[in-house]
Amino acid sequence: MRYQLSAEAAEFYESTFVPALFAAWARRLVDTVAVTPGQAVLDVACGTGVVARTAADLAGAAGEVVGVDLNTSMLAVARRIRPDLRWQHGDACALPFGDASFDLVLSQAGLMFFGDRMAALREMARVAGVRGRVAVQVPGRLAASPGYRALADVVARHAGREAVDLLGAYFAVGEPDELHHLVDAAGLRVEVFDTWLGATRLDSVDTFLAVELLPLADRLDRDVRDRIVEDCRTALAPFVDAAGAIAAPIEVHLVVARPEPE
Ligand SMILES: C[S@@+](CC[C@H](N)C(=O)[O-])C[C@H]1O[C@@H](n2cnc3c(N)ncnc32)[C@H](O)[C@@H]1O
Repeated sequence: MRYQLSAEAAEFYESTFVPALFAAWARRLVDTVAVTPGQAVLDVACGTGVVARTAADLAGAAGEVVGVDLNTSMLAVARRIRPDLRWQHGDACALPFGDASFDLVLSQAGLMFFGDRMAALREMARVAGVRGRVAVQVPGRLAASPGYRALADVVARHAGREAVDLLGAYFAVGEPDELHHLVDAAGLRVEVFDTWLGATRLDSVDTFLAVELLPLADRLDRDVRDRIVEDCRTALAPFVDAAGAIAAPIEVHLVVARPEPE
């Protein structure tokens, strides 16, 4: 994901991606860590703030919820929706907070994009401290995400492997053993490793493709895109209901861990 999106792209993210999948992910993340009133919660790579907002509803007025992201357009949307929460510009790999500042450090759909994933996890451990917890939620394996696998097969046929690699960036930390190892190596002791099957829900195959082909927007010429759309109508048919709405299954990993004492 490019770090500086336009204001329109950030609004599109909030109005389309968030209800399609990330709101449901946020609910599961916040329920799993069981946010309680009064807690201090950090949302790393908060985007437009869905995890922070969901956590804030539970942390209540006595809690403190902060969202941090590199992207100023995403932060502007987050601030518009919840001006009462704290939104801060910053890099996950060098978090602008002191040691042990938060009870919970949450990060959803961010880890795969970080320049140095190990540094980011170490930073999350540092700002949580030994009495805090860190929870990270990411897309799992492309091969275990049937809607996305079907899309990737069609894209490979018409636009080649390189195009699939761009789509596959979302799934870059999806191998469970590698993810477990990465979290361990960052000095975090894994307490929960929950792999579940979510779904991206949108009103039509056309909307799904408008969203999911965005990373390829500059690379596909008109007729290649048209052929992809045409083949996807068949390939994605198993995930489309009678009204034309799509629910494309996607594997998700939710990892909750505790910083190891030094
Ligand atoms: C797919 S969005 C996820 C946003 C949000 N967590 C959600 O669940 O909707 C990925 C976010 O990661 C942010 N991001 C990428 N690299 C980052 C970094 N190094 N530090 C902070 N944020 C980063 C992007 O700006 C973007 O807002």
